[in-house]
Amino acid sequence: MAVGIFDSGLGGLTVLNAVQRRLPDVEFLYFADSANAPYGVRDADDVFELTRRAVARLWEGGCDLVVLACNTASAAALRRMQEGGLPQGKRVLGVFVPLIEALTERQWGDNSPPREVEVKHVALFATPATVASRAFQRELAFRAIGVDVEAQACGGVVDAIEEGDMILAEALVRSHVDALKRKMPHPQAAVLGCTHYPLLEGTFQDALGADVKVFSQANLVAESLADYLKRHPGMLGRGAPGYLTTGNPGRVSDRATQFLRREIRFSAA
Ligand code: DGL
Repeated sequence: MAVGIFDSGLGGLTVLNAVQRRLPDVEFLYFADSANAPYGVRDADDVFELTRRAVARLWEGGCDLVVLACNTASAAALRRMQEGGLPQGKRVLGVFVPLIEALTERQWGDNSPPREVEVKHVALFATPATVASRAFQRELAFRAIGVDVEAQACGGVVDAIEEGDMILAEALVRSHVDALKRKMPHPQAAVLGCTHYPLLEGTFQDALGADVKVFSQANLVAESLADYLKRHPGMLGRGAPGYLTTGNPGRVSDRATQFLRREIRFSAA
């Protein structure tokens, strides 16, 4: 029995780690589309097609429920997949909604009209494709009024992480935070809108300053998945757990082991 977790590469491991901690009895099948990462520089049709294929692979692996642990895929593909109709008994969840519910102090599934919230100035850090989609702003507008969002497309960060070049990734984060601060000098909150970025959360926090509250998704998604599975216990699937990649399994395993600080072994998807 396994729930599918999908990302373009290693970023979804930040979500996997949190859901494994929150749900120790649930098994997971992780899929990293490493051969096609990064998604964040692709157009929406391309991201949709790659996501559709990856999710189909997880369904083939016996998963009934797949979490898109990738904001870029959630922005470009989630609504389109759901509107296009999913196979009988299959479900796909994204990562935006739990984050926006936390930011807007809402309980799960609170569909009341948008209202004023505490936080007024929000910095959004995400991939170029997620920023271009404006999906974050759209989801936020359904729930909150009067929130000023300044988005910073963080080109290069995902590539550097996938290559294991954390010195470059850190330097890029600092320069993206500087660029954001030129547009919004005093954000109250910052959203890490890419599942790769929690691997550099300390760098974001340091560059932003201690008075900026940094929201990252892993624990929020874990809580929301726990809640979903409590309400839908039949969605645990039939497949075997494991780690699949479209890239080089040896290389991807080494990086994953380095990031999670425990042995992770990928096999070819
Ligand atoms: N982790 C993905 C996200 O959350 C990265 C996308 C990419 O491959 O650029 O957006």
